[in-house]
Amino acid sequence: MQSAPLRPLGKTGAEVPAIGVGTNRWSYGANDAPVFETYQTLVDAGGGFIDTAEVYGFGKSERLVGDCIRKDGRPVFVASKFAPFVARTSPRHLMAALEGSLARLGIPSVDLYYVHFPFPFADLGGFADGLAEAVKSGKAKHVGVSNFNADQMRRVADRLSRSNIPLAANEVHYSLAHRNPETNGVLEACRDLDVALVAYFPLASGRLAGPPADAKQDKLDAVRRALAEVAQAHQATPSQAALNWLLARDPHVIPIPGASKAHHGKANLGALDWRLTDEEFAALDAATAPVK
Ligand SMILES: NC(=O)c1ccc[n+]([C@@H]2O[C@H](COP(=O)([O-])OP(=O)(O)OC[C@H]3O[C@@H](n4cnc5c(N)ncnc54)[C@H](OP(=O)(O)O)[C@@H]3O)[C@@H](O)[C@H]2O)c1
Repeated sequence: MQSAPLRPLGKTGAEVPAIGVGTNRWSYGANDAPVFETYQTLVDAGGGFIDTAEVYGFGKSERLVGDCIRKDGRPVFVASKFAPFVARTSPRHLMAALEGSLARLGIPSVDLYYVHFPFPFADLGGFADGLAEAVKSGKAKHVGVSNFNADQMRRVADRLSRSNIPLAANEVHYSLAHRNPETNGVLEACRDLDVALVAYFPLASGRLAGPPADAKQDKLDAVRRALAEVAQAHQATPSQAALNWLLARDPHVIPIPGASKAHHGKANLGALDWRLTDEEFAALDAATAPVK
């Protein structure tokens, strides 16, 4: 098992692999056999930061992650999420959902437990109190939010601080193709509060992973060309260049590319073996100006 560079999970004191893996797509396949190979390849390469949620495949992703943990036996860092819905927003609902996730995962506690999205009109204080209860019960080691705007994450962080619990992370959509966290205040709030920004869709659902020739012409074409050029200079892949740009953007950023194929997972973790030069960072920055 290789040791990969780690990043601090905000100010929790915990550290996680600098690149994690999203497991939503693990639940898509008719045949689950390749999932274990992908899992083992990732853990071998030091990528044991596993992102799942109760809603992925209606619990199937969590069950598959749990099977992998049991079969493989090595320690990993597991994050899952509570999905609030109508009449399912209270601390009691969050704790019941957490119990369900733990049962599917087959573990006594998750390392990180998020509220998946800020359900409209639901009381943010109630979410914070539910997350605090999750930590106090010992069923979650750290807690975070996902898809919360800057104001919402500040309010949750403030409420959690009354229980001396730091907000660990905000998991949001962030990539070279979607740079909203830079302009909507979320990246700034993560820096101010020292909260990890866990980046989902870091490869724009694969659109930043392929060579330009394979993709149809769209507004990402210039980005793909720039990624291919950088990748070639390092004998690397476009996906590694896209992930390295996120890692270089800010030390709070931790990308979680989805990979259901073992060779994709391994290639993505290979981004940790090299770095962009300042000029390459700037070139990718400029190439994404039209999508900024
Ligand atoms: N919190 C939220 O609201 C939220 C929302 C959406 C997603 N997420 C999380 O973020 C994760 C990532 O999202 P995502 O998987 O949809 O998007 P993504 O990471 O942007 O892209 C994944 C896609 O790229 C492909 N890919 C990955 N690595 C590759 C490589 N090295 N070369 C070529 N293709 C590659 C994957 O193929 P294969 O699968 O075939 O390997 C898959 O089709 C999800 O799994 C989930 O855990 C969270």
